[in-house]
Amino acid sequence: MSRINLLGISGSLRAGSFTTAILETLTDELSVSADLALHSLGDVPLYNQDLDTEVPLPAVGALRDAISQADGLVIVTPEFNYGLPGVLKNALDWASRPYGTAPLIGKPVVTISASPAFTGGVRAQAQLNETLLATQSQLVGGAQVVIGEVHNKIADGRLIDRPSLDFALGAISGLIEKIEAESQLKAA
Ligand SMILES: Cc1cc2nc3c(=O)[nH]c(=O)nc-3n(C[C@H](O)[C@H](O)[C@H](O)COP(=O)(O)O)c2cc1C
Repeated sequence: MSRINLLGISGSLRAGSFTTAILETLTDELSVSADLALHSLGDVPLYNQDLDTEVPLPAVGALRDAISQADGLVIVTPEFNYGLPGVLKNALDWASRPYGTAPLIGKPVVTISASPAFTGGVRAQAQLNETLLATQSQLVGGAQVVIGEVHNKIADGRLIDRPSLDFALGAISGLIEKIEAESQLKAA
């Protein structure tokens, strides 16, 4: 198959976000095997079914197109109040529609969480995975990538903790394998 094209989504809008720094580091580290482009959720409006019309709002259309065009998603999230940040849940709600043809249906996804707490956002990741189940995305299973004490593992906007980075890269390798296996099935 042609070069694998992954889309990265950060659950944080903060300029100095540790979550986004993880995605940016993964983009650099993956550059040989796959492309990982980030899509910001900064412009995505609050979900309102009245606004979920046949012609989508520009930021919604851009999000849905980016997901549709990607071979797979890498979603990295922090934890807010023991759960998934509203910004990310909101974006997934938009991407879960139109009903029956939503871009998330069948989309291979790997999830990662990070937090300054030693729990590493694991509760947010559990909620994220539950939401992805509802959207009929294809979640890559296996070891959960949970990065605790993330504030000690980021420097100059990069994830500098090699074991965490290798753990995350391992999960993305699983995502790439899933994408390649499906591509071979389709070609057979
Ligand atoms: C409103 C709010 C609630 C938070 N709740 C939690 C929490 O329940 N668990 C946790 O581990 N961290 C919590 N945190 C800390 C965030 O995980 C931390 O600020 C993280 O760095 C945010 O991600 P970012 O660096 O990508 O912006 C919370 C932060 C905020 C602002």
